[in-house]
Amino acid sequence: LDNGLARTPALGYNTWNAYGGDINEDLIRATADLLISSGLKKAGYHYLVIDDAWSNLQRDDKGRLESNSDRFPSGMKALADYVHSKGLKFGMYSDAGSHTCLGYPGSRYHEEEDAQTFADWGVDFLKYDNCWAPASDWVIDRYSAMHAALNKTGRPILYSMCDWGVGDPWLWAPKIANSWRTTGDISPNWESMLRCLDNTIGLSEFAKPGAWNDPDMLEVGNPGLTEQEQRANFAIWAILKSPLIVGTDLRRLSRAARNILTAEEVVAVNQDKLGVAGDLIWKRGPTEVYAGPLEDGSRAVVLFNRHTSGTQYPLSNITVQWQDLGFEDELDATVRDLFARKDLGTFSGSWTGIVGLHDVRMVKISPIKTAPRYKDWRPW
Ligand code: GLA
Repeated sequence: LDNGLARTPALGYNTWNAYGGDINEDLIRATADLLISSGLKKAGYHYLVIDDAWSNLQRDDKGRLESNSDRFPSGMKALADYVHSKGLKFGMYSDAGSHTCLGYPGSRYHEEEDAQTFADWGVDFLKYDNCWAPASDWVIDRYSAMHAALNKTGRPILYSMCDWGVGDPWLWAPKIANSWRTTGDISPNWESMLRCLDNTIGLSEFAKPGAWNDPDMLEVGNPGLTEQEQRANFAIWAILKSPLIVGTDLRRLSRAARNILTAEEVVAVNQDKLGVAGDLIWKRGPTEVYAGPLEDGSRAVVLFNRHTSGTQYPLSNITVQWQDLGFEDELDATVRDLFARKDLGTFSGSWTGIVGLHDVRMVKISPIKTAPRYKDWRPW
């Protein structure tokens, strides 16, 4: 969507993966403070988004959405002001059906009044879910109605569609939204993460500045994924140019999870100004290579080892060939490890990394001299 927002994928925080519907205003204030003290805001995460369960079960007597009287007694305007006072942007959630997934009021046929309510509160980001919609009410119409309503408010509001991939949104959403979900919900386990990933492979051509594929929010930091799996979640989401939306309890953020989320050279790939999404470029059994071009002519590359534990091969050698990156074989290029922030040397033709089970290596491969097909290579 050409609304000036999300020229690079959104970086932020959302309450759902950590808390589900168990949210309140003290928790949001604490999360705002923790985004700053943990260094996450400095690393770029600046949207703080409140997911489902923020409202009352009924609209007020004028038909407007109202914040939950028990859990958000100070009201959303005051909370938005607090979040803004910390230099963060404020995000909220609603639904393109009669109710949200947890049964609070949805915005279908209330799009204009609700968009105006959000704008009045100072909302900068809207996540818009897909529960409780009659099958006869076409998904494109439902999501377009909120697009038009947000536009009408005149306030710049990033529009994050949570359509679960219903109706192949990559074919129509780039015109009306800043991102769309390619999958059902992620949960903190390996199989779920792979399902979200596999549903997003091959969709890179639909992404561009202002319009991104969303394989759902990050599970980095959550029990259920090992440290290796969390690193894989982060590296692959970054190279696919997914929005990077943190969803873990920041009061208990481990050092390992913080190191992953604040790996600045990985975040820089996600935020690279060229804005071309990476994709799967090579696969042999459970070993995979993802790659995408960067503004300076380099390539970002993720080697991914999907071998399941218990295999007789705990480490895999995975090779990326220059030809598969659009480089001539003879080209000399430097290879830099982006999590380790370390140069690995100069190579020509290919580079091989050793990758542990369920783990990734993420590197940047930079030609020493400009080569043919150097700038225009795309992963599709
Ligand atoms: C759906 C969405 C989730 C979350 C919940 C809230 O399942 O896909 O991301 O917003 O609803 O109820």
